[in-house]
Amino acid sequence: MAEELTLDTTLTKAEQYRQLLPQIEALTTGEPDLVANLANTAAALRQAFGFFWVGFYLVKGDELVLGPFQGPIACTRIRKGKGVCGSSWAQAATLLVPDVEQFPGHIACSSESKSEIVVPVLKDGTVVAVLDVDSDQLNDFDEADQQALEQLMGLAAAWF
Ligand code: SME
Repeated sequence: MAEELTLDTTLTKAEQYRQLLPQIEALTTGEPDLVANLANTAAALRQAFGFFWVGFYLVKGDELVLGPFQGPIACTRIRKGKGVCGSSWAQAATLLVPDVEQFPGHIACSSESKSEIVVPVLKDGTVVAVLDVDSDQLNDFDEADQQALEQLMGLAAAWF
């Protein structure tokens, strides 16, 4: 497909995800390179929604290590159970954090990050990575983000 996204910002957020996900699927189908697929996914999400930071942390041994991302520089390593990302890994569950200051142990890579959603990528029942999306607005994520990003990470599992 052409390396250009079709985006309609007059749609609701859920509709925008419904427009975007098949495009990410088309962009990554047939591409065997993990980094290429994670990089384009992070870029597509940021381009579509203008999030402050979008990226992946990959499980490597007993740590998460920074992977492809879009946004300001970020922490490179996070231990299991630490911060929102390490907690999502430990719980193998999506974490929606409306106010990062209220999340005990939140790791502040940037003071501009106000709310956050972290979605694990599960391969055969094991977390292999997490998607972290940060906003500079409080309470910027809801069930529409969770549902769509979980669906997307279901697709992403096949890249690992
Ligand atoms: N806030 C995250 C760390 C990653 S950065 O936000 C990019 C956390 O608490 O796990």
